[in-house]
Amino acid sequence: MLAEKYSSEIESILAKYPDDRKRSAVLPLMYLAQCEYGSVTLEAMIEIADLLDIDVTQVASLIGFYTLLWDRPGGKYRIQICTDLPCALQGAEEFAHQLCEKLGIQLGGTTPDGMISVEGVMCLAACNGAPMFQVQGPDGIQYHERQTVESALALIDELRKRDDSG
Ligand code: FES
Repeated sequence: MLAEKYSSEIESILAKYPDDRKRSAVLPLMYLAQCEYGSVTLEAMIEIADLLDIDVTQVASLIGFYTLLWDRPGGKYRIQICTDLPCALQGAEEFAHQLCEKLGIQLGGTTPDGMISVEGVMCLAACNGAPMFQVQGPDGIQYHERQTVESALALIDELRKRDDSG
């Protein structure tokens, strides 16, 4: 339980908000849960909902909106391709499907070595750079714009080599 292990962190998060605005603490609490469990599990969502006295569906609804939060484990690196309409019109969906095909996974899936997940996400504010994606991993978040399947595969090779060396 988060409340037992992180009572002082939770207290200091809640202290940032007025008593009648405790629900605003939902994102930092979800981030805390994700750091602890690797994803925001259903149990964590229920606990957060209880802590903030809100409905669990209100917590769950935020997962799909914020690309920094996820509700299931994924690869060490998450390749998040914008498949929102402006990028889709510039070939992002086809790019996503071709990349997944080359990796032998479905969109939303993870490679068998646990290294790479490929996800479709909403606008990442780089609409003129489609096809584009962000990579989330141990080194933070990097944007990659005007991608081809070949350039994305080269980047994935580089990520795997980086992992092998260290
Ligand atoms: S619609 Fe893809 S980055 Fe904005």
